Amino acid sequence: MASSSRGQFTSRFGFIMAAAGSAVGLGNVWGFPTQAASNGGAVFLIVYLLMVFLLAFPMLVAELTIGRYGQSNPIRSFNAAWPKGKAGAILLGVIGMIVVSLILSFYAIVAGWLVGSFFNSGLDLFGLDSAGHWLTTFGTERNLVLMIAFMALTMFVVRNGVANGIEKWSTRLMPLLFVLFGLLTIYIFTQDGAWEGLKMYLVPDISHFTPKLVVSAMGQAFFSLSLGVCVMTTYGSYLKKDTNLPKTAAQVALIDTGVAFIAGLMVLPAMFVAKHNGVQIFSDTGELLNSDTLVFTVLPAMFDTMGVMGAVIGLVFFLLMIIAALTSSISMLEVPVACATEELKQSRTTAVLWIGGLVTIVSAVIVMNFSSLFGLVIQFTTVYSQPIIALLITLLVGWIWNRNQILNELKQGYPEIENSWFWKVWPIYVRLVCPVLMLLVFFA
Ligand code: TRP
Repeated sequence: MASSSRGQFTSRFGFIMAAAGSAVGLGNVWGFPTQAASNGGAVFLIVYLLMVFLLAFPMLVAELTIGRYGQSNPIRSFNAAWPKGKAGAILLGVIGMIVVSLILSFYAIVAGWLVGSFFNSGLDLFGLDSAGHWLTTFGTERNLVLMIAFMALTMFVVRNGVANGIEKWSTRLMPLLFVLFGLLTIYIFTQDGAWEGLKMYLVPDISHFTPKLVVSAMGQAFFSLSLGVCVMTTYGSYLKKDTNLPKTAAQVALIDTGVAFIAGLMVLPAMFVAKHNGVQIFSDTGELLNSDTLVFTVLPAMFDTMGVMGAVIGLVFFLLMIIAALTSSISMLEVPVACATEELKQSRTTAVLWIGGLVTIVSAVIVMNFSSLFGLVIQFTTVYSQPIIALLITLLVGWIWNRNQILNELKQGYPEIENSWFWKVWPIYVRLVCPVLMLLVFFA
């Protein structure tokens, strides 16, 4: 990961881990299972997989390619692909930056809850259960303190240059997260009630299919792959010219989707186990209760059933989740910071301080008006803004950007691309199918 704004990823593996680090986060472990649980389980899973394959993956290639071609922050990269459209490029870049900052402002709140759960597990370990109560009980002060702690962590990492720390961390700790997920999934199936959750997750019940579900699945796919707000454009700009972009994008998409799938495999059964153990999960009418905080109720309930081991596992689990959230939040803050250092010629420290400070203030406003703002900001950013900006980016790549330039850019890491099926399908696909699909989903 780049420490200066014009650094480069040192290896393709490093990039995949960093981009996968951006992609894998709360969206996979908190967003996806919650959405699947509230939208009929298996039907949501199927539509989600279709959305990743049909829309998000081609978009990911498009964003990475623009970034690497431009070798600069999103504003300049868009401008490089669209030389006559300077104003348009600036507008698109600025909107992307505003939306990504808003995403960070709610993301930090949820990540703060993880920090709370982490310390709570630690206290549990020492038998200090009651001290942890404040950390895990929903409240404005607690939300505020934990959010600020997480923002400080994010700002610290981005300021220090992401170079060695996080790239190395994610390379080593992400695999550990996968293993722990796998083990917890196996464990949960030894518990009563788990199979009911598995059935909901894997056996489709078509009556749950609604147009709204498709919109949610699309939003979730864009969110999970960090699309539509210039994160991947920025990361692409740190990528070496000899990288095979379609292949790299496919690997990132695969890792991200794999983690979401496994998280669902763990969380949905865990929900029903908790229900079996007396935790109220559904309302009398069958709707999911407190969906925002669901994962934070259900997982600790699962750890509790494991005795002392449970506290240790909880501690490790929440630590890994904090790291997963951190590799995502730094990718968000990196976008406006890269712009400020290059366009406004500010130092990294200055940029991190004022931009991070601003995001923290916005986040604090959300915390203090939680019931009215939290859901609204999520809705506005992920359900509407992300797909709309993504639509504008596909129009840029499909209709404005010179096709030969795209081909030459992709060829550098993939010389045979001209004869591949990818090149036969993708350009037309991005030009026509992606925008039409997005519009259809939107106006359905
Ligand atoms: N994709 C990450 C997740 O699943 C979150 C994330 C990182 C993100 N960068 C983003 C979401 C940019 C939207 C836009 O948790």
